[in-house]
Amino acid sequence: MLFFEPLRLSMAIPLGDLCYMKILIIGGSGTIGKKVAAAFAHKHELIIAGRNSGDINVDISSAASIKGMFELTGKVDACICTAGTGYYGPFETMTQEHVLPGIGNKLIGQINLVLIGKDYLNEGGSFTLTSGIAAQHPAKNGACVAMINGAVNSFALAAAQELKQDKRINVVSPGLVEDSKDRYGAFFPGYNLVPMSKLVNAYILSVEGAVNGRILKVYS
Ligand SMILES: NC(=O)c1ccc[n+]([C@@H]2O[C@H](COP(=O)([O-])OP(=O)(O)OC[C@H]3O[C@@H](n4cnc5c(N)ncnc54)[C@H](OP(=O)(O)O)[C@@H]3O)[C@@H](O)[C@H]2O)c1
Repeated sequence: MLFFEPLRLSMAIPLGDLCYMKILIIGGSGTIGKKVAAAFAHKHELIIAGRNSGDINVDISSAASIKGMFELTGKVDACICTAGTGYYGPFETMTQEHVLPGIGNKLIGQINLVLIGKDYLNEGGSFTLTSGIAAQHPAKNGACVAMINGAVNSFALAAAQELKQDKRINVVSPGLVEDSKDRYGAFFPGYNLVPMSKLVNAYILSVEGAVNGRILKVYS
């Protein structure tokens, strides 16, 4: 029997090759997040979160805000984060005041989503965090973001070894995506644009596939 309406479920129900899930997407109204949400919307129940957008308000830089979000959502089958920023600016004048906000936001924010959210993730559920190409190929002025992305990747590698109840965690590491060409293209001279469909597939692989502890690099 197939359902094509969104379902309110407390657990994923396997139906042959199909599996309906309750998926939380933090940042699901953003450039990447909205394309990810669109890919899942026709087959899963979605909850979109953001500071000022989506169904639920959350600021991932606050642990209390994250806890409050999960209290509202209840248990979910997948938690995707496509939110978080860090400082881009000249290395020569960079200080810890430039660096710390991004650590509290994209790094600690995503770490807290896992540390707090693991108690709200159903057995067999998954986390999908987002890092970025800067971890491996930083652009000029990108030292802060490179460090944050690398730390997100390393955290997920370690957490995958320790999550219980078949819970999984992966990181999608996007290159410069085609939808961000106008916004960020000038900061990344020589970087190849990543098609949105290719990037979205990495999130699908993480959520609907069996991969665990993987850094899904979507750049060449
Ligand atoms: N775009 C690219 O080419 C690219 C390349 C490599 C890596 N990435 C990474 O991919 C992720 C998404 O990028 P994007 O371009 O899609 O960003 P974006 O367009 O700015 O969207 C970010 C989304 O996250 C939400 N958000 C931001 N800060 C938040 C916070 N503290 N708490 C909760 N929600 C927050 C925003 O909504 P509100 O404003 O309502 O909070 C927005 O919906 C980022 O981590 C970025 O570094 C992007």
